[in-house]
Amino acid sequence: MNKNKIIILISVIILAISGFFLFKANSKDNTPNAAITETSNGQSFVSSQASNGTENAEIKLTKDEVAKHSSADNCWTVIDGAVYDLTSFISRHPGGSEILRACGIDGTSLFKQRETSNGESIGSGTPHSSSAEGQLEEFKLGDLEG
Ligand code: HEM
Repeated sequence: MNKNKIIILISVIILAISGFFLFKANSKDNTPNAAITETSNGQSFVSSQASNGTENAEIKLTKDEVAKHSSADNCWTVIDGAVYDLTSFISRHPGGSEILRACGIDGTSLFKQRETSNGESIGSGTPHSSSAEGQLEEFKLGDLEG
């Protein structure tokens, strides 16, 4: 076997090995092992054990589900089509109890314009800061269905 043939053979072996590892990496299970459980008193909670960095990516929640979480101790809202559980943030909200207006409903205009659906201004009536927007992600449960 001459030198060129040996080089070609080694290249083919390296390509085959890297192809195998690429295939293995892509065929990882991407199912976000998550569940929404409803307790006997009608409260729901989301549990997720995703281990692949796509946590909650596939969770879809309905408007009716969001509407069940409309109180200060159980507050979900929708902002731009995503569902958030704000319960743990309510006592820390710099704007006080105004945040409760969003519990159980679509809070997009309340959050983005500080304005009710009737056009009534809340507080300054200006959009929340980018720092407020940045905090939202940690409360995300999933996306609104439809
Ligand atoms: C959706 C319903 C909400 C309403 C009606 C509301 C209302 C308000 C009001 C009236 C203030 C006082 C300052 C001002 O009037 O300009 C305020 C401040 C603030 N809120 Fe909210 N809020 C809501 C949701 C949220 C959420 C979901 C977050 C964060 C996850 C948040 C974070 C903040 C922060 C950081 C401030 C300080 C000022 C700023 O950064 O814009 N709020 N909010």
